[in-house]
Amino acid sequence: MKILKVKTDTRISEILIGESIDNVQKYLNNRKTIIITDSNLIGHYKQRFPANAPIIEIGLGEKSKTIQTLETIFDKLIEYEADRSTFILAIGGGIVCDVAGFAASVFMRGMPFGFVSGTLLSQVDASVGGKNGVNFRGFKNMLGVFNQPNFVICDTQMLSTLEPREFRSGFAEIIKAGAIKNPSLFEFCEQNAKKALALNAEVLDKMVYDSVEVKAKVVEADEREKGERRLLNFGHTFAHAIEKLTGILHGEAVSIGMVLAARVSENLGMLSSDDSQRITKVLEDYMLPTRPNTDVVELFDAMKQDKKREGSEIHLVLLEDIGKAVTRKIKYTELEKIVHDLRSDFR
Ligand code: GLY
Repeated sequence: MKILKVKTDTRISEILIGESIDNVQKYLNNRKTIIITDSNLIGHYKQRFPANAPIIEIGLGEKSKTIQTLETIFDKLIEYEADRSTFILAIGGGIVCDVAGFAASVFMRGMPFGFVSGTLLSQVDASVGGKNGVNFRGFKNMLGVFNQPNFVICDTQMLSTLEPREFRSGFAEIIKAGAIKNPSLFEFCEQNAKKALALNAEVLDKMVYDSVEVKAKVVEADEREKGERRLLNFGHTFAHAIEKLTGILHGEAVSIGMVLAARVSENLGMLSSDDSQRITKVLEDYMLPTRPNTDVVELFDAMKQDKKREGSEIHLVLLEDIGKAVTRKIKYTELEKIVHDLRSDFR
């Protein structure tokens, strides 16, 4: 097991990579604990949850990231007589962690909380970084807080019970971490696709550790996303629109979004064509989609709508090299033209 510490203004959060769900009790310090989870995790792991802790079950998928789900949680917390000293333990993927982290942050002005992160995507991305929240009126993560959990357990053994598609989608964020900040992680991903997909524990632990390290450093430098943290959004401007239009998994949309962002970087003369192709190739090696499954112009309109509060320009994360991301302000009209020119490549 390896421990990474994320130090922010308010807390030191411990990310425990390779720790087992069976040891979670050790981190609860005998506190009264309430679990928030979903039916998938209950189905596979209920016997291994801390004994005697009441369980609040929330619905599956992005559609459950709502104020209504929060209301259900708050009702249950009142029923279980939770107070400010009660520990909230979220066991699940990104949705469970996001919703539970938000509920714990605002109920009675804040309770301590921690995560057992059960999907690859949440181990490398969703449970690390302190952003917790819910969607509102069709806007993603419109309501939320920055608040780091006390601990995050990343048990890579739990990944064996994931649907293969869900498992593979997590590699998009690992490849992203390499692409923006860590060229040797990127190369490691290029060299180890087969082993990683076959759930080789050593390979997965290293990938999760290196990705979390990239994210931890960025979050420590800029917890509230004033500058540096924006780099983590590589591929995400396109991805959010793709997700909205097509409903594919977040990691899959990020995969396509990264290909588009790399192609835009190439088009602007920032990234070599070889490196842009390496991005596409490694994503294909992890069986991730690399072509927009929607018309590019339609995609672009959705993107504009998503970012409508930013005016005529948007901040786009682009690559100068593998391992070197930068933020550029770019006019919609210019981006629209580039994306339009790329269209023929994706037919
Ligand atoms: N909780 C996810 C993040 O902060 O990025």
